[in-house]
Amino acid sequence: MRVLGLETSCDETGVAIYDSKLGLLSHRIYSQIALHAEYGGVVPELASRDHVQKLLPLIQEVMSDAKTSSSDIDAIAYTSGPGLVGALMVGAMMGRSLAYAWDVPALGVHHMEGHLLAPMLEANPPEFPFIALLVSGGHTQLVKVDGIGQYHLLGESLDDAAGEAFDKAAKMMDLDYPGGPLIAKLAEKGKEGTFVFPRPMVDRPGLDFSFSGLKTAVLTAIQQHQQADGLPDDQTCADIACAFEAAVVDTLAIKSRRALEQTGMKTLVIAGGVSANKRLRRELEISLAKIGAKVFYARNEFCTDNGAMIAYAGCQRLIAGQKDDLSLQIKARWPLTELKSITPS
Ligand code: KG4
Ligand code: ZN
Repeated sequence: MRVLGLETSCDETGVAIYDSKLGLLSHRIYSQIALHAEYGGVVPELASRDHVQKLLPLIQEVMSDAKTSSSDIDAIAYTSGPGLVGALMVGAMMGRSLAYAWDVPALGVHHMEGHLLAPMLEANPPEFPFIALLVSGGHTQLVKVDGIGQYHLLGESLDDAAGEAFDKAAKMMDLDYPGGPLIAKLAEKGKEGTFVFPRPMVDRPGLDFSFSGLKTAVLTAIQQHQQADGLPDDQTCADIACAFEAAVVDTLAIKSRRALEQTGMKTLVIAGGVSANKRLRRELEISLAKIGAKVFYARNEFCTDNGAMIAYAGCQRLIAGQKDDLSLQIKARWPLTELKSITPS
């Protein structure tokens, strides 16, 4: 089975072709980061317009790169939610239209299921069942995964998502959007322990998170050391970034390990943009080794939004017999736990 995957839920246009026998044949990601940079966040209308312009050329490029013609495609998978409605509509319209023209099924894929399955694209994929830590710009969730579509929510953020916390801390330090990679880079120059921020909710039982309080800690540290331009000197900014990253990473690692211990599982999958964070990967590797557990993640370009994860998830659902009707299936909000279970191939 060969599936064309389209991702347009936010500010990346992702297109890929996944083949169930041959694996990933080709993929392209066009990032709109530069387009939104001057606004300090994603502008939905601009995102939709840019997806309209980029999607078709990217599809043509991927088809030619994978030496695939329309008659070789068995289905089209598009991200049908959650995400920005206008942006989702662009991918859905394109996916549906091509499916109609090529007389193949079109499948709506849940964006977070795409993220969650992205590590399956790597050489040593994790095996079910496992615990997934989903950490993106909009989600922070711990999920027990028994199979594709079999998701049980164990805990989630009660306020800001981990990626959102990185983005907000970055904004306070005058760094561009998305702030996660920039904070991580700045943190490398920081001195450990100069600032110590709280690890929210780790002393309470349970697997929920809260990151909004960390914003206040970062803001207070900035205000206490600010100079004429409103910011502390470069080294102090790096020290604050380092303390902030350490607090987020520690919190995620403590709760992930707790989820493994509570369920008796030995496999953790981390997915979504924040799973590209080096400190998070390193800390989890060390912490989980102590309990005989292992962490799996995708290569960096498949941690953030991409078409490959949508093509892969769509392919698994196609093989399992999922069929969507001709309507456009768009959901701006869509809990992962509402997905139907399918039998993995
Ligand atoms: O999964 P994703 O690409 O988009 C959503 O579905 O939200 O995640 C984007 C988020 C942003 O908040 C970004 O700042 C964060 O992931 N991010 C990182 C890193 N790379 C991306 N956060 C921390 N460290 C990173 N290296
Ligand atoms: Zn995402």
